[in-house]
Amino acid sequence: MKAPPSLLATSAMLLVLLSAQGALGSSLIRSLLQAPMGLQMADLSACPAVDSGSTAPPPGSKELWSAPINGTRNYTCIAGKPVGDGATIYYGGAMEGGVGYYTKPMPGQMVGRLGYGVADVKAGLYWFDTAKNTTSPSPTGGLPDARWPVVYRSAGAQPCDYFVRTKTTGGATPTDCGSTAEGGELTVPFTAMITCYVCK
Ligand SMILES: *[C@@H]1O[C@H](CO)[C@@H](O)[C@H](O)[C@H]1NC(C)=O
Ligand SMILES: *[C@@H]1O[C@H](CO)[C@@H](O)[C@H](O)[C@H]1NC(C)=O
Ligand SMILES: *[C@@H]1O[C@H](CO)[C@@H](O)[C@H](O)[C@H]1NC(C)=O
Repeated sequence: MKAPPSLLATSAMLLVLLSAQGALGSSLIRSLLQAPMGLQMADLSACPAVDSGSTAPPPGSKELWSAPINGTRNYTCIAGKPVGDGATIYYGGAMEGGVGYYTKPMPGQMVGRLGYGVADVKAGLYWFDTAKNTTSPSPTGGLPDARWPVVYRSAGAQPCDYFVRTKTTGGATPTDCGSTAEGGELTVPFTAMITCYVCK
């Protein structure tokens, strides 16, 4: 009798994990098991405490890369008010060809919030927690400046510890739905700079 495909897939995955453990060590296995598929936990242990009242990078960190982004912030008209539920982001400059988006809330995350912010760029694939941001007013009048700790990154990605958004124009939440009907989508164009900082 043939084993059901799900059992075969599970055994194959176990084999991969076991051989990976031999070759790469158990810390990788631990991070593979905790992080979403294909991602590993970022290690922020080299970062000093950051100021929760600002978007300044961690003291002593260095800038690894900085890139212009543009795109739209998307809002859905709910009970007559625009509610942010996503973004479509394009990276230029040193990260030309990269994209950004938000995931839906993950299991265990509060319903009604955005999930993780994702940057899928040349330097790697990064997930940052939208609930662990800090913000400061934008000197350029758009969405506030913001700083996020990186939570997960792809294996082999350059280790960015914090993403900081500056020089934002546009994107801010409209005060009302305007001519958009209940349940309809509003898209607000924006531009900004994203900088990746690493602590060691
Ligand atoms: C945001 O809006 C743009 C423009 O309508 C659309 O192409 C994109 O798919 C939307 N993204 C999300 C995440 O809803
Ligand atoms: C957005 O950025 C991409 C990547 O740099 C660029 O190719 C595109 O022309 C930009 N779009 C707008 C509307 O500025
Ligand atoms: C994080 O960003 C959201 C908007 O995306 C904002 O409502 C919230 O106040 C920010 N959190 C902090 C701690 O600044």
